[in-house]
Amino acid sequence: MTAPRLLRGVLLAGGAVAAAVVANELAGKPIPFLRWSALRMLVDLPGLDKRGQVGDGRERALALYVIKNSRGGDIDDVIRAIDEFARKKSFLMNVGDEKGEILDAAVRRAKPKLLLELGTYCGYSALRTIRAMPADARLYSIDINSANARIARQIWEHAGVGDRVTAVVGMIGDSGTTIARLRNDYGFTEAALDFVFLDHHKSAYLTDLRRILEEGWLHPGSVVVADNVKFPGAPDYLAYLRANEATLWRTVEHETHAEYQKVIKDLVTESEFLGKV
Ligand SMILES: C[S@@+](CC[C@H](N)C(=O)[O-])C[C@H]1O[C@@H](n2cnc3c(N)ncnc32)[C@H](O)[C@@H]1O
Repeated sequence: MTAPRLLRGVLLAGGAVAAAVVANELAGKPIPFLRWSALRMLVDLPGLDKRGQVGDGRERALALYVIKNSRGGDIDDVIRAIDEFARKKSFLMNVGDEKGEILDAAVRRAKPKLLLELGTYCGYSALRTIRAMPADARLYSIDINSANARIARQIWEHAGVGDRVTAVVGMIGDSGTTIARLRNDYGFTEAALDFVFLDHHKSAYLTDLRRILEEGWLHPGSVVVADNVKFPGAPDYLAYLRANEATLWRTVEHETHAEYQKVIKDLVTESEFLGKV
């Protein structure tokens, strides 16, 4: 193809996308993924899960929206308001409502007492986890981004569940600081950890899970759920689970969709640890 024809093709495709987005916005955003806020996030996608914020202030705006538009002390209403913001205002990289139900069911099945989440963002999946976990359970949620931890805490306090979850700023792969904090301050001891939700930097899923295994925190029956295994994708993590199926792990692969739309497919894995590394 010649350069002018290629350029014309690119301009036509760009124009078609822009027209579709304008029509969608004018029609009240019936197609959640066809929005400026979603496209902006897609453009930013490489490394977004590593940086933690989109860069246009939408996470801060979410906290203000939730406080203004949901009933304090009502966790269901707070979750509803976050989903509403993600669908109608700005797209958010939450686990979302469809995959959230898979997470809810896994937490209910596991009946965990000590839970760890990697990737807090604005605290949405933590809210769903808290709602599904037993009353005496405790969740620790880790994020590298301190601004996200602040926003999540604000939303959890508003939902009335701030005493059931601890936001930890750090990362499993920070040469020992966060691991030591979990061990020394928060009771992460041999075989104490019942449930892990992986939803942070996709290429860290496998290394961080291996680090958790090295610490000996899991026990036979501990459950590890991972989001975004197909989109944006954690291929090394999926290959590891499949290679160790029925020996180290028993995994259910939940076919689903990426958050807040039905076009892009995703996979959530739910893996039971069988013991012996
Ligand atoms: C997809 S978002 C998490 C969404 C959240 N679990 C929810 O559903 O509400 C990913 C988050 O992981 C954080 N993150 C990225 N790399 C990380 C790492 N190595 N350790 C901990 N958090 C990390 C980012 O700052 C971002 O807030």
